[in-house]
Amino acid sequence: MSKLLIQGPSRLKGEVRVHGAKNSTLPLMAASLLCDSTCVLHNCPVLSDVQTSEKILQHLGCHTERSGADVAIDPRSVEQSDIPEYLMREMRSSIVFLGAIISRMGRAELSFPGGCELGPRPIDLHLSALRKMGVEIQEDHGCLKCSAPEGLKGVNIAFSFPSVGATENVLLAACCAQGTTVITNAAREPEICDLAEFLNQCGANILGAGESTIVIEGVKNLHGCEHEVIPDRITAATFLAAAAATGSSITLTHVLPAHLAPVLPLFEESGCRFEIRGKEIRMHTPDRLSRIKNVRTMPYPGFPTDAQAPMMAMTAVANGTSIFVENIFESRYKHVGELLRLGANIKVEGRVAVVEGVGHLSGAPVEAADLRGGAALVVAGLAAQGETLVSGVRHIDRGYECLEKSLCALGAQVTRLSD
Ligand code: UD1
Repeated sequence: MSKLLIQGPSRLKGEVRVHGAKNSTLPLMAASLLCDSTCVLHNCPVLSDVQTSEKILQHLGCHTERSGADVAIDPRSVEQSDIPEYLMREMRSSIVFLGAIISRMGRAELSFPGGCELGPRPIDLHLSALRKMGVEIQEDHGCLKCSAPEGLKGVNIAFSFPSVGATENVLLAACCAQGTTVITNAAREPEICDLAEFLNQCGANILGAGESTIVIEGVKNLHGCEHEVIPDRITAATFLAAAAATGSSITLTHVLPAHLAPVLPLFEESGCRFEIRGKEIRMHTPDRLSRIKNVRTMPYPGFPTDAQAPMMAMTAVANGTSIFVENIFESRYKHVGELLRLGANIKVEGRVAVVEGVGHLSGAPVEAADLRGGAALVVAGLAAQGETLVSGVRHIDRGYECLEKSLCALGAQVTRLSD
């Protein structure tokens, strides 16, 4: 089990390239199952979740090959329709493969994702939408057995909440369904647009991705294509939080600034300034950050729940009181107890966290309980005086490509210790 040893406080400087988006890559890999020839994904990050997705594709019968940041997926020899339980447990978002497997094979079998570090992880929206499209689903001994005896049919689906995963599953199931599918109250995240763009390049007919209503006209078949994964907006926000927490000025390269529109104003509220040129963002940070009055996580284009924890680590050293309201997940404050060990002053009451900024943090051993919470501990460790030892790094490796290497290139002292 690896740990990260951080010698703080750090002052970061220079440029960092933002890798491809984890949350785009996973559904794109699932989408490749729908094609009748090879797909190549460029800018595909090296992350444990992406490796798990490769294992799922290989289990199903795909041939996959990575060369640098390119992953080629040949889905022609797919013959399995199940995802083994150990892979479902490794990555609960493997549920996004469900719509693609049913579309390709007419059946699918996988274990129920159950709860996770962020609290209960229901999939009722995924299942009720798929049922409406003609999928028969039996929930049996923790296992989901799905089949579409008469094929998938286009229908109207109105989500009660704009779930990212459920929107992706319906997109995947609807591309080759008979007739037209209309999703209302669809998720509008950039990753949804990336998936729709990929599918359209493969021959699908999807209109309205990025808006609340998406219309999918079913087509007979999809062919492979080459596609560049969008940059990871959460990784970008994490680097910005790290720079802000350490009073540093850095430049992000290979980002899409428009995707960061929900987060940049909050950095500005804390006194940071940005110069944006094309795919680069240069951030200037004041010596002492100001508090951020209110951070409310919301579906896109609201503030992303995935950036809540890194942002909280930054406000832990800001001047004044910042208030966070977590509206997306029930249990997304596991990092708070660990930030307290570093000397932060944070109180949680249900969905609300009140952060009283302190003058300085001091290094301590801490444990990551989830991906973004782990990133928050790294951000805080960079700002803290002395040594911070972060364990539970496997969570961080799910979503950040060699985080310590990028931070060291920016001048931080972070070492990976392996048992
Ligand atoms: C995706 C992202 C995750 C991000 C989240 C919210 C991926 C791989 N993961 O997760 O990083 O934090 O979006 O932006 O892209 N819900 C239900 N029933 C359902 C589905 C969801 O009640 O059938 C609830 C969830 O419990 C949660 C909320 O809806 O409270 C948001 O979930 P959703 O948008 O589906 O997130 P994911 O797709 O799981």
